Amino acid sequence: MPKDFSTMEDSNPSSHPSIHDLGRRTVLRGGVAALLAPLAGLPIAGCATGSGASDGPLLGFQGIAPSFADRLIVPPGYTAQVLAAWGDPVGLPDRAPAFRFDASNTSQDQEAQMGMHHDGMQFYALPGEGRGLLAVNHEYHDDGLLHPDGQRTWSAEKVRKAQAAVGVSVIEIVRSGPGWMMVRPSPRARRITARTPMYFSGPAAGHPLLRTAADPQGLSPVGTLANCASGKTPWGTYLTCEENFIGYFRGPQQPDAHQRRYGLQPGGYGLRWHEHDERFDATRHPNEPHRFGWVVEIDPYDPTSVPVKRTALGRVAREGATVTLTKDGRAVVYSGEDARFEYIYKFVSRDAMRPGGARANADLLDHGTLYVARFDADGRGHWLPLVHGQGPLTPQGGFADPGQVLVRTREACDALGGTRMDRPEWTAVHPDGWVYCTLTNNTQRGEPGRPGVDAANPRARNAAGHIIRWKEDGDFDATSFTWNHFVLAGDPTNRSGDSFGCPDGLMADTRGVLWIQTDLSASGIGRPPLERVGNNAMLAADTRTGEIRRFLVGPVNAEITGATMAPDGRTMFVNIQHPGEDRSDVSDTDNPRRLSNWPDFRANGRPRSATVVIHKNDGGLIGT
Ligand code: FEO
Ligand code: CA
Ligand code: CA
Repeated sequence: MPKDFSTMEDSNPSSHPSIHDLGRRTVLRGGVAALLAPLAGLPIAGCATGSGASDGPLLGFQGIAPSFADRLIVPPGYTAQVLAAWGDPVGLPDRAPAFRFDASNTSQDQEAQMGMHHDGMQFYALPGEGRGLLAVNHEYHDDGLLHPDGQRTWSAEKVRKAQAAVGVSVIEIVRSGPGWMMVRPSPRARRITARTPMYFSGPAAGHPLLRTAADPQGLSPVGTLANCASGKTPWGTYLTCEENFIGYFRGPQQPDAHQRRYGLQPGGYGLRWHEHDERFDATRHPNEPHRFGWVVEIDPYDPTSVPVKRTALGRVAREGATVTLTKDGRAVVYSGEDARFEYIYKFVSRDAMRPGGARANADLLDHGTLYVARFDADGRGHWLPLVHGQGPLTPQGGFADPGQVLVRTREACDALGGTRMDRPEWTAVHPDGWVYCTLTNNTQRGEPGRPGVDAANPRARNAAGHIIRWKEDGDFDATSFTWNHFVLAGDPTNRSGDSFGCPDGLMADTRGVLWIQTDLSASGIGRPPLERVGNNAMLAADTRTGEIRRFLVGPVNAEITGATMAPDGRTMFVNIQHPGEDRSDVSDTDNPRRLSNWPDFRANGRPRSATVVIHKNDGGLIGT
């Protein structure tokens, strides 16, 4: 996250302090050991094998040691190759501006190049062997890297370039020898940015809270940003999720209670878009922030398709959207909201998926029920429906209509009494039927004036994070579940696994390997209590045995995120985000480990986020 986001003020006055944690820069504190291990003795109920799951050992690779090097390290017998870095042309048919290492590309160039800060990502197969599309999120931009002189001067052109550096890239890729390469030009290549026309659908489309001077009908939002984690639907579309959108807005001197609950801050967070694009000045356009925080559905196969913001899934600082189906084919979407003391969500569609891909399911995510999770101390849990007219979600309770429940989702969850979690990041549906969610950390848990520990979030000043999991009572549409912790990162009582901290990205592959990616803040890497875990990493977990083994270590100050696989399980794509953190930190000499020049290692170069592709040298399944 941009540095200034970490100052975000308390946004949850209704149910006690909830500071958005938009900052990976949180200084980690506390005394837990730097060891990680699965909790001993956890029952692993219902360990039925899913498709492709085997009864033999899941993990066959040689685990690798922690590292602080400015390198990307994978196990012996594996190769990692940079596939698509910030600034690489995406392959639009009409233009392919080369990346300039001095960052002098124009905003027009950037509109045809990979954005910055790659995050969630999904693979979409194309006909033929070894060919597909990658849809890649670009979570945020870093002015210090994006412009030759950072923010020293400021202009409409710089704002426009920043707006082109966020959003989504769709690239076509093809197997090339043992590796993969981008197809350029490709008729399917696309950039979606903060300026791409979109539309709203679902119950809140057209709601007065979504109307602006430029869009008096409240149906036609412009752009997506803060695109963090992602989802892939079984009908072949991409879900990109708008997480820390509020940081792009300048707020009024005295935000109202609704604005405060979403963290709108007087003056903004230092990104300065509002100075040249009044849309981002909430003092002039107070409804514009309501037009972000949604799940956006994109058909990656059709570069002319208009992205759709699905209001039925609610408006939150959404980390991701993981989709599965009930036995009768209804869509179930799990999400976390990554902010301190925020919630875990589930959406269940009213209708079943139909054959026919994106077009046949164009309104599937527009009708259904949104729920928030409540984790009870007895290991049971309940999904509380966000349905207008039920419980506290009435006009008397402050919710005049269904649209208000969806635009003010956080407040609806406060009223319902959902469990306030330690920053829920990614979710994953495992073939064994359990649903996993990373809770990356929450150093304010148990601090004076903050919520204390509870059964689901059991550690005060939770610096290392944990992974919770639940199993629905029956099908995925159930309204109750059983839960436990899969692992407390940094748990000193068990030493059987490789160490890590701050779990974030999460993927369950079809063999049953749970891939865990970490996002320890730059200020915490190499420091207590996680000084022994090294740079951020990706680990593979066997959920049957609890073993966790380190598979990849990233370069200096990079976050590891966005894992996806080709359908044959022999190619893995991983995103390396913000190597070196941001340029403004280069002067921070108290921690020389912050410096990175990955992946180009050019003199006077600048680090670049990138998608890497990993294969096993013998062509085998990843992880074996
Ligand atoms: Fe964008 Fe919560 O990570
Ligand atoms: Ca994340
Ligand atoms: Ca994170």
